Amino acid sequence: MSGSDKKGFHYQKTDFVVRSSWADGEWSPLELHGDDTLHIPLAATALHYGQSAFEGLKAFRQPNCSVSVFRPLENAKRLRTSCERICMAQVDDQMFLEAIDLAVKNNWEHIPPAEDGSALYIRPFIFGSGPTIGVRPSDNYEFVIMVIPVGSYYDPKSQGATAYIAENYDRAAPKGMGHVKAAGNYAAGLLPTKLAKSNGFDMVLYLDAKTRQNVEEFGTSNFIALTEDGKYITPDSGTILPSITNDSLIQICKDKGITVERRAISVKEISSLKEIGACGTAVGITPLNEIYRGEELAWKSKVPVAESQLMELLKDLQGIQRGQSTDPHGWRHNISAP
Ligand code: PLP
Ligand code: COI
Repeated sequence: MSGSDKKGFHYQKTDFVVRSSWADGEWSPLELHGDDTLHIPLAATALHYGQSAFEGLKAFRQPNCSVSVFRPLENAKRLRTSCERICMAQVDDQMFLEAIDLAVKNNWEHIPPAEDGSALYIRPFIFGSGPTIGVRPSDNYEFVIMVIPVGSYYDPKSQGATAYIAENYDRAAPKGMGHVKAAGNYAAGLLPTKLAKSNGFDMVLYLDAKTRQNVEEFGTSNFIALTEDGKYITPDSGTILPSITNDSLIQICKDKGITVERRAISVKEISSLKEIGACGTAVGITPLNEIYRGEELAWKSKVPVAESQLMELLKDLQGIQRGQSTDPHGWRHNISAP
């Protein structure tokens, strides 16, 4: 089935995955596999002690029939930070890029047309695969890249998405692992997200675990907002994931002369904000409509999605990603047709 037949954000098998194994202190040459399953020891550290980290990036079809991957070296760097935090073997820039190119070229037919937010989602991951029953880092690792054609992560709603502030759960502890993309962070978010969804909300908004006074981020994405006086604001915190999308939007704002503030955002302040969005690779910019805290409406959008300035910023970002505008910061990594 070609990528264009699929919408939403769901796993589907594509033609090839790229794999390399770490043993005796080095990575094996990259290999292509048609099988999307793995045979691993029952005592693998990933299964027991959570030694596993992943990345997410996207490839977009370009008007000239090539494909461009958005800022892959930023993901390579972040993956190394994650690996360092949980004592795993690391992949250097050259190997990461080689693996991305192999994965994209060998799944070319699955890359959807660049419309409706569709793209080829690239999911690199590394996990401890060696059998180790004492709590210590594995001696063996697997590096895998799989790719999946995707559309929107959240069901597109004409009026925007809804979020619920997590009162009884934290995503990340101070000095914990919130700044890296460790698999366990997402396990911690499964129950609060399930509860929020069962109450009709699309996503969870976490507060900082230390003071519970400030907004941190959503379970899948960073918190971004526009103030009534036209500033772009986003939390400054050591316990949220440094989003490559957010970093790119900040640069786009600066290029357009929009004032950017990375600072603590008090949960009390949000009622005054004009627009709020969730940003990330998978979610793009998902505009919010309402945020609830308990039974109370903590924030309501002041702008219909059709008039949203955040959606204008998304168009600017997509223009660069899809090759429809210039690339002043060198963000596109081009791959020519195989
Ligand atoms: N925050 C969390 C918790 C995420 O999982 C993601 C997605 O990767 C992001 C933020 C956004 O990061 P990026 O823009 O690099 O995809
Ligand atoms: C991404 O945006 O790439 C993510 O990893 C978020 C989510 C799908 C886990």
